[in-house]
Amino acid sequence: MTGIYDDPWAYELACSFRDVPAEVDALLGWCAGHRPAGRPGTVLELAAGPAEHAREFARRGLAATALDLNPEMCAYAAREAGRANVRVEVVRDDMTRFDLGRRFDLIVTMLDSTSHLMTLDAFVAHLRRVSAHLSPGGLYIVEMSHPRDRLGEPTVSTGWTVERDGVHASVRWGEPGDRLDPVTQIADDHVTMTINGGGGVTAGGRPPGDDEVRVLRDVVPYRFWSATELDAAIRVAGGLEKAAQYGDFGAGADTVALTDPEAWRMITVLRGAQGVDVQPGIG
Ligand SMILES: C[S@@+](CC[C@H](N)C(=O)[O-])C[C@H]1O[C@@H](n2cnc3c(N)ncnc32)[C@H](O)[C@@H]1O
Repeated sequence: MTGIYDDPWAYELACSFRDVPAEVDALLGWCAGHRPAGRPGTVLELAAGPAEHAREFARRGLAATALDLNPEMCAYAAREAGRANVRVEVVRDDMTRFDLGRRFDLIVTMLDSTSHLMTLDAFVAHLRRVSAHLSPGGLYIVEMSHPRDRLGEPTVSTGWTVERDGVHASVRWGEPGDRLDPVTQIADDHVTMTINGGGGVTAGGRPPGDDEVRVLRDVVPYRFWSATELDAAIRVAGGLEKAAQYGDFGAGADTVALTDPEAWRMITVLRGAQGVDVQPGIG
């Protein structure tokens, strides 16, 4: 079975409900508010997948690096950056072990990619790698889904439709039976994506016809992290302190607090704790 992360074109189509430039506006706005030096010059996107945010940062003149474990995602991210004529350095690595030997003004992990960190040890290792790669005054902004999604309801089952360049797709991420294991806090999320019309490639590697329907099925393991567990992981990891938390990408008058009933994301702004200096190659 080809997983959805092995088909970056389909994954990017599934996620095209996002307004990436607006999200980057918010990320840069939070830098202005929480980083004494203001606008960052260098950015690292972790678990970047197709690296849409890294590409948008690069478009705005930042030196952008994207890191992902999946070789298909890395190849796609590099290709799409080239097609968009923007410079993004793409690195295939693990977000719990990377050592790039340099620091960044801003590090981001978008769209709940930390749900791929299955254990507290993995989360702590991830945070330590992040803090080792932050320049003085640098920020780490991590977007997770809102805890209400998993604690407020017994299951998560979401469906949406997208349309891009004449290609229509419906996506189901999670089925009613996809329950969190109460001990491990891991669910196997069943994903179904139905793609109608041209674009991408079929399983046979050829372009599909305009009236062809392609169905992609996958099971994506998801580790739920609560807000209090995130706090605990930050404390255990050391080297980072929480600057702010938001419930959406709204900024200024549209800022949504994490506790707001309208909040649907858990976005945490972390900065390197003062007096702590972790070397990139250590720890
Ligand atoms: C939900 S996708 C998100 C991609 C991207 N953050 C976005 O906003 O579209 C999760 C990504 O995490 C990557 N991933 C999973 N475990 C990883 C790890 N340990 N280190 C680096 N990347 C990882 C997967 O390959 C996949 O591309």
